[in-house]
Amino acid sequence: MAQTKSDGRVEPHLFVIIGGTGDLTQRKLLPALYHLSAQGHLHDRCRVLGVARRGDFDDEGYRQWAGASLAESGLAVEAEAYAWCCDRLHFHRLGKGDRKDYEALAERIASLEKEHNLGGNRVFNLAVPPGAFSPTVTGLAGAGLDTGPGWTRIVVEKPFGSDLASAQELNRLIHEYAEESQVYRIDHYLGKDTVQNLLSFRFSNAIFESLWNRDRVESIQITVAEDLGIEGRGAFYDKVGALRDIVQNHLVQLLCITAMELPPALEANFVRDEKAKVLRSIRPLTPENVVFGQYASGSVCGKDVPAYRGEEGIPADSRTETFAAIRLHIDNWRWQGVPFYLRAGKRMPARATHIVVNFRCPVLTCFEPFTCDFACNRMIITLQPDEGFDLYFNVKVPRQPFRLEQERLRFGYKEAFGDLPDAYETLLLDVMRGEQTFFVRADEVELAWRIFDPLLRELPQVHFYPAGTWGPEAAEALVSEGEWHDQAPQA
Ligand code: BG6
Repeated sequence: MAQTKSDGRVEPHLFVIIGGTGDLTQRKLLPALYHLSAQGHLHDRCRVLGVARRGDFDDEGYRQWAGASLAESGLAVEAEAYAWCCDRLHFHRLGKGDRKDYEALAERIASLEKEHNLGGNRVFNLAVPPGAFSPTVTGLAGAGLDTGPGWTRIVVEKPFGSDLASAQELNRLIHEYAEESQVYRIDHYLGKDTVQNLLSFRFSNAIFESLWNRDRVESIQITVAEDLGIEGRGAFYDKVGALRDIVQNHLVQLLCITAMELPPALEANFVRDEKAKVLRSIRPLTPENVVFGQYASGSVCGKDVPAYRGEEGIPADSRTETFAAIRLHIDNWRWQGVPFYLRAGKRMPARATHIVVNFRCPVLTCFEPFTCDFACNRMIITLQPDEGFDLYFNVKVPRQPFRLEQERLRFGYKEAFGDLPDAYETLLLDVMRGEQTFFVRADEVELAWRIFDPLLRELPQVHFYPAGTWGPEAAEALVSEGEWHDQAPQA
């Protein structure tokens, strides 16, 4: 349950970022903390401690570095950002990370807690690469930091393992030191307002929920397309690929929220139980339901770009997939017989994340003698960009004897609510409030890996597609209605 002060601000606590000088800290964590603070969500006594193995900083140096990077990202003018950093930020250099180093960290934490009267409440955000995860958790626990005088919460960043066995091992390690109720696994897609809104869209609108089943739905497509390539992350990406980077986590979460049943209440374990049930009902994947691709050179948004194999840090014979398309079936009462198509790709023509619900076609014989530009009803939920919904339906064209044409009803998030917050902002506030609904539970991670593990043992053939296209032709054949829905509708 949420633990907030009665005035709505989160309780005083120490927010410890292990990996305090890393890319994630700079791009996401510090801006989110800055915003939360500016919006008045943080108690005046809340403090942030950046911890890094190296980093030639003292508190003052760290504040200058953080202030400059907040200002660079355009969040605040430098003087304001720096003033915030002076109020809130501290730095601790961990060193090699042996027992003595963690004991020194524990002393530093205790002294900050005393100085600022933080009640021993701690968040440990582990913004460290996968290889550093295990030594960090054991180091913290070895110094007694797994439990504190107040509450202790651990934020775990993806990837949650690289296959079923490694995910199980990771969960085992985490559970050696922490209860599941202390663990916050971040899949940032769950922090997007458009994704959270899927729950209200489905369960607070009877007109849609009553159509949301195999009687009315022909198929569902979920796409996460990016025009970006691997953005200098070659060494990381080549070990990961689209399946591990996007499909097993972000796409699976979108699938679960689209397909799950109504939970008894919007409480963390009720919601996560329903998602886990969806995962348990997915039919085992077979190779004919999967297409992998890799981008060749091409042109994206008018700019020539190299092939994946020509990117920095990528071996010339790499077989890593930068595209994956998958056809899934959920064998339960609601979805039996409805195919779900999932697709993720880099270097596609545009950034487009959307869920397309194709409804069944009605009997149309009475319109057949007339000229019709008819199409079955379709709902497109655009998660980014141009966040919103578009519902497509047929209308009679005026003055034409029963000529039908497709039109749409649109709801646009930005027009209604302005800019949406960054997912990290939403999720970090939830961590501070002790609210786990939009964090991934251990069993969900393992159930998701269970679906894809067989593919990892026998990798599908990789088809090449020119950068700037919607993926290899082989992916078209997966879709029974003949085509993927590509570009999201324009606002
Ligand atoms: C990350 C992946 O988890 O999500 C990246 O590692 C990807 O490769 C990113 O670019 C996409 O997130 P968003 O929010 O921009 O759709």
